[in-house]
Amino acid sequence: MQNTYRILVGISGGIAAYKIPQLIRLLKKQGAQVKVVLTPNASGLVGEKALQTICGHPVFTDNASFYDMDHIRLSQWADVFLISPATANTIAKIAHGIADNLLTSLALSISESKIMIAPAMNSEMWEKKATNHNLQILKDRGYHILPVANGELACGVCGPGRMLEPQEITDHVFRYMASSSILKGKSVLISSGPTEEPIDPVRVITNKSSGKMGAALARAALYLGAKVTVVSGPASEPLPSAATVVKVQTAQQMNTALKEHFENSDICIMAAAVSDYRPLCFSETKIVREEKQKFTLALIPNPDILANLALNKGKRFLVGFSLESDGSEERAIAKMNRKGCDMIIFNRADQALGLDSTRVVILGCDGFREEVPTIDKNAAAGIILERIAQRCVSR
Ligand code: C5P
Repeated sequence: MQNTYRILVGISGGIAAYKIPQLIRLLKKQGAQVKVVLTPNASGLVGEKALQTICGHPVFTDNASFYDMDHIRLSQWADVFLISPATANTIAKIAHGIADNLLTSLALSISESKIMIAPAMNSEMWEKKATNHNLQILKDRGYHILPVANGELACGVCGPGRMLEPQEITDHVFRYMASSSILKGKSVLISSGPTEEPIDPVRVITNKSSGKMGAALARAALYLGAKVTVVSGPASEPLPSAATVVKVQTAQQMNTALKEHFENSDICIMAAAVSDYRPLCFSETKIVREEKQKFTLALIPNPDILANLALNKGKRFLVGFSLESDGSEERAIAKMNRKGCDMIIFNRADQALGLDSTRVVILGCDGFREEVPTIDKNAAAGIILERIAQRCVSR
């Protein structure tokens, strides 16, 4: 792939910094222009002259030129800011908006979706709650976090925390840049979590749903450059802060909110576990057990939100989820056709509910079928969004 992407490589003080000249060589091989910024801690780990020779530009450091607006000029220049290696310290600073050197100042002046972070640290640091929390903050804000490898670390122990190899980082960067704009200018509307149907002030009818898949879909859509709105029922899973979030409780409220936002959306993904029924009557006071030895609750159906949206679908791309307790893909296909959506994601309750991973089959109304083996919900959401994007673009 030949391209003229402008890649700013930020090197922080991890021992893996010695691999960066090779990384720059690989990035340049793909036709990219590369500039480099070093933190003071990285300066001692990798030679400035070598970097300068390989990238063909002066290396930017915290010298006097820092005060000469380098962070603004460089932030305008870069198509992507790749921080590699990113130490636990630099990750923590970026997560909390600290800008105490040129690299962290750049991180604060470049849009989140343009920043890729390749962490590198010792396993203990990688597994610390503080590091996990900081990385989650960055993910939720739309930064692109690369995985780490498992292997021998500079400290001599084996474990997770190793920076990916330069070739793997190069692959991530180009895959990301090729895909990052595919949904640019598109609005993606996602329903997420369960709904709750009140019986009395303290009791509800609900569905099991953690909201993890909805959050993962929102994140994946943001990575592809989309503007994202999530209509979410009560779920504890945090949603990415770069998304607009509309909180609802009942299916009727979800119906109203989705109808309102559907108007301005290009893609709508119904990942919510909507309660199919609600109580016919709501008791204003708590139903007292002692007073009712036998209790029959009358239920009436909720609107089928997805089927109703499909009636005014226009050119929008509409995706449903079909969670089944058995392996019946046929039921999912029938549901897709009955509800009038373009795509349905089939998964099984025992392989998805409440878990961080899922196994999905992506089914298109044109006969498309792709089985995605059990993987993390974020990775599954990435594949789903890519397939949606490909089909929208080719329409
Ligand atoms: O019929 P079932 O609940 O299995 O359909 C699943 C799909 O339909 C999901 O995408 C879900 O969000 C959506 N749905 C809906 N309104 C309902 C029930 C389900 O939009 N009342």
